Amino acid sequence: MITARAHTNIAFLKYWGKKDVKLILPYNDSISLTLDRFYTDTSVDFDQSLDHDEIFVDEKPLTGSGVKRVKNVLDLVRHLSGISNFAKVQSTNHVPSTAGLASSASAFAALAAASTKAAGLNLSNRQLSIIARHGSGSASRSIFGGFVQWHAGHDDQSSYAEPIQENVDWDINLITVLINTAQKKVSSTNGMQSVVETSPFYPAWVKNAQADVKPMKTAILNQNLATLGELAEQSAMRMHATTFGAVPSFTYFQPQTLAILSAVRNMRKQGVECYSTVDAGPNVKIICASSDNEFIMHELNQIVSAKQLVVCKPGPGITYL
Ligand code: DP6
Repeated sequence: MITARAHTNIAFLKYWGKKDVKLILPYNDSISLTLDRFYTDTSVDFDQSLDHDEIFVDEKPLTGSGVKRVKNVLDLVRHLSGISNFAKVQSTNHVPSTAGLASSASAFAALAAASTKAAGLNLSNRQLSIIARHGSGSASRSIFGGFVQWHAGHDDQSSYAEPIQENVDWDINLITVLINTAQKKVSSTNGMQSVVETSPFYPAWVKNAQADVKPMKTAILNQNLATLGELAEQSAMRMHATTFGAVPSFTYFQPQTLAILSAVRNMRKQGVECYSTVDAGPNVKIICASSDNEFIMHELNQIVSAKQLVVCKPGPGITYL
């Protein structure tokens, strides 16, 4: 049995839409930061006494659409290794219980790493990234630590992530604002597919996202927080704009999402370098320098409680436990 740990990542330049739904090939490159605070530990054992794959997440049998995705990854690993045994998979998410952040990124990255090693394969991180991508697109980036770029590519082998900078020597922080929601969520998979098929804003999204890759990489390498933050906030706002144009229209924003976005803009007007990003949910993540944490947390405390705030720093890539 092999256990691997993968940390979740937050995209600064978003992946939003597939040009190949089966292979999970995105329309545009994306750029993310792997985080230190949220991670998944996954153990895999290919056991000849099993007559089906047994999959447990947080000690409960996995149900729903996740089962097919896990089996896709396991089938791929069986194909590559020549193993025919079924597997026992046990996955534990280490995320705040109220977060609504349970991330497919860390889950499928950990699964790719643990299952390939358990099957006796010794693959490069690039190959692991390709396998993780078959479970969930954003998982391709969680194989690596620090700042990571996922190359969109044009086929299975050309669509993989690689580090821009694995060991981040920069006091950049990401404050996660956990906004609770009772509302039923549109999954990222369904949300992006609806946008690709129906939003007239989608072609503009792809064009602008791809154009932002180079300037964002330069901003990262120059540790230019203002440019990185502005590009990241733009990417998030443009991604969410596509959802308003979809038919039927939808949004991930909730009232508190807008309140936080506005508070961040106001702090910027006061000269604090802080920028927002939002994924397929209501939570806002604030990009800032650690020296501004205290001020920002104090301001945010007027909208949300202190326990809704989690400060993250750059995190590592795949490790085996
Ligand atoms: C908004 O990777 O969850 O977080 O490939 O369908 O599993 P699937 O989607 P997923 O989408 C992530 C979308 C995003 C942006 C991002 O992480 O780049």
